[in-house]
Amino acid sequence: MHDSHPEILIDRFGRTVNYLRISITDRCDFRCVYCMSEEMTFLPRAQILTLEEIYSVAQVFVELGVKKIRITGGEPLVRRGAVDLLGRLGQLEGLNELVMTTNGSQLETTARDLKQAGVKRLNISLDTLKPDKFTEMTRVGDLNKVLRGIEAARAAGFGRIKINTVVLKNRNHDEVCDLVGFALLRGLDISFIEEMPLGLIDDHDRAEAYYPSDRIKADLAKVYELVPTTDTTGGPSRYYRINGAGTRVGFISPHSHNFCASCNRVRLTAEGRLLLCLGNEHSVDLKRVLRSHPGDPDTLKKSIVAAMAIKPERHEFDLRAKPVIFRHMSVTGG
Ligand code: GTP
Ligand code: 5AD
Ligand code: SF4
Repeated sequence: MHDSHPEILIDRFGRTVNYLRISITDRCDFRCVYCMSEEMTFLPRAQILTLEEIYSVAQVFVELGVKKIRITGGEPLVRRGAVDLLGRLGQLEGLNELVMTTNGSQLETTARDLKQAGVKRLNISLDTLKPDKFTEMTRVGDLNKVLRGIEAARAAGFGRIKINTVVLKNRNHDEVCDLVGFALLRGLDISFIEEMPLGLIDDHDRAEAYYPSDRIKADLAKVYELVPTTDTTGGPSRYYRINGAGTRVGFISPHSHNFCASCNRVRLTAEGRLLLCLGNEHSVDLKRVLRSHPGDPDTLKKSIVAAMAIKPERHEFDLRAKPVIFRHMSVTGG
């Protein structure tokens, strides 16, 4: 078949970059205790990329061989115009998968439009099934609203919906079986995530809250039979299947199982930094390139190709050391 986009992005370690994650806003209607501090200062409007600028960057990346784009935040759906942007991205020729990560708070009213816009899969964050605990962990969120959002997403006919659960010891670690039960009953996938030391938080000591994936697996094994699979979505989850069911249970284990050797992604932050690794600060300021060379995709393209030379080999997260990454996940988009 004729490939209209033969250029590809390859880093110094031979890894092909074909997955772009875009944080379209650093704002969020939740304040999850592992993600944000209670008081957050958000970026002024002029400092974040316009939707048009985001679209230009995405377009160039697709021309450079990117096949998958994930829209994240903050909470992407709190940005006005998000659905329109998705609709335009959904039509980019050469893009195989447009997907989104959301906290689910706005899905009740937007799920159908997102499907219509061409979003293929949704990852929805859900850390607990207890309403009080949910409000405690998100500081402000309403569990029932999110549950209605999940139902709306199912009704809209999304291919696969994945639940993301960040597991904190003595907070929600006792709910992992119930959460798998929730996913099973609804035919959803679920990933359990080890907390990462991104940004300063005031709620808890991250080392003390560490609950390794192996402990979760052992807890689940008491109730469910987990069968290892070789499935991959091009993300860092290692997947298991529940025997006899369609549900996949994934583990994202940045501490206990390093997945950097197969890293295929880069990130565009809300302020237009191209971040080459979630756990390092190596980045290129694409906003500066965009604003100093408006309407010049070739210069943008050259900057992106050149950025591959500084993609680090791996992240070096250390829960016990002082935080070295000061940006919060909401700026980066996970
Ligand atoms: P799929 O495309 O469905 O595989 O999604 P995903 O699991 O990669 O995406 P999602 O947005 O649901 O991300 C879940 C979490 O995985 C993120 O919030 C991060 O915590 C973690 N994660 C994703 N990519 C990376 C990565 O490159 N490095 C590290 N350390 N963590 C990552
Ligand atoms: N460590 C791990 N996961 C995090 N998330 C947000 N902050 C952190 C963190 N510090 C998760 C959210 C969401 C995904 C995008 O990132 O719960 O599922
Ligand atoms: Fe918002 Fe997601 Fe961060 Fe929670 S984890 S505060 S939902 S960006």
